[in-house]
Amino acid sequence: MNKTTAAITAVGAYVPEFVLSNKILETMVDTNDEWITSRTGIKERRILKDADKGTSFLAIRAAEDLIKKSGIDPAEIDLLILATATPDLPVAATGVYVATQIGAVNAFAYDLQAACSSFLYGMSTAAAYIESGRYKKVLVIGADKMSSIIDYTDRTTCIIFGDGAGAALFEPNEEGLGLQDEILRSDGTGREFLKITAGGSLFPPTAETVANKQHYVFQDGKTVFKFAVTNMAEVSARIMERNNLTNEDVDWLVPHQANRRIIDATASRMGLEDSKVLMNIQRYGNTTSATLPLLLNDFEKQFKKGDNLIFASFGGGFTWGSVYLKWAYNS
Ligand code: UT7
Repeated sequence: MNKTTAAITAVGAYVPEFVLSNKILETMVDTNDEWITSRTGIKERRILKDADKGTSFLAIRAAEDLIKKSGIDPAEIDLLILATATPDLPVAATGVYVATQIGAVNAFAYDLQAACSSFLYGMSTAAAYIESGRYKKVLVIGADKMSSIIDYTDRTTCIIFGDGAGAALFEPNEEGLGLQDEILRSDGTGREFLKITAGGSLFPPTAETVANKQHYVFQDGKTVFKFAVTNMAEVSARIMERNNLTNEDVDWLVPHQANRRIIDATASRMGLEDSKVLMNIQRYGNTTSATLPLLLNDFEKQFKKGDNLIFASFGGGFTWGSVYLKWAYNS
């Protein structure tokens, strides 16, 4: 009997309409298009302007896009994992609300938080459930309303992040396609360098923490950059070695979109030519949990059944890793 693997069988995505361009940011903080483009590769990001809508809105739209494209019945979904760093509410998992809203009436759901690696870790969880035979349809959604935790007077963070959502459906595969291998890592000494200081159990929110803007993202960009370049490249090269993949064998690198220079360094360490490196950072910025599924949705038509995809991410925590997946369908 063939081993059951976990394949991605459908994808979907959603980004809000409002475009926050570098030109607009020039009017908000002391920055310029040349600096942002050369240091990050970002030209514009999407922002969910409606004050009464949270991450669930983005996630629901992405899931609905997947359901419409694939024709699946949402009642067949067994489990919904919402990968997010910006839940609607601190308590009452957002994934649960999303599952109900999309008609996944037979699913259980929860949120998974590992900053920018949330979706990558979610892929691993989905695959483990499917390989074990416990569940047959697992929907992993990566969604973040980063604009809800960004200080738009801080030029070191507001130029980077954007809002968006993407979704991928995982199902059993008997042809050996889908998730092949993973290297997942974390290091808690990193939490000082990329965090929201207040609002959790360590520093509950007070008028003072709000006045001090401690409910916004803080990032020591230079330190995070160094760790990201080293570690994302290292795990990506290692997963190739471990699976005897040469640069010729790898069809696509699906990297977290935090900074074009981090992506280039990873691709270079893997010996990949530019045409194999997926990038949409110029249009969306860093959408945290949504970067990987947004890439899948944008480039879906170019993937062929049997293609070798290497996913890589690095994020707050620190959390990072790489996943090797064989694509399972032609669009
Ligand atoms: O997704 C989660 C993981 N996150 C990441 O992977 C992000 C990793 N870090 C980065 O991508 C980069 O460190 C940044 C894009 C955040 C910053 O780029 P950098 O090349 O590391 O710049 P820097 O922080 O070293 O700043 C260089 C200079 C500074 O001025 P001085 O001190 O040299 O006079 C900054 O004040 O650039 C200045 N600067 C800016 N100038 C114009 C910082 N932000 C801006 C800005 N516009 N927006």
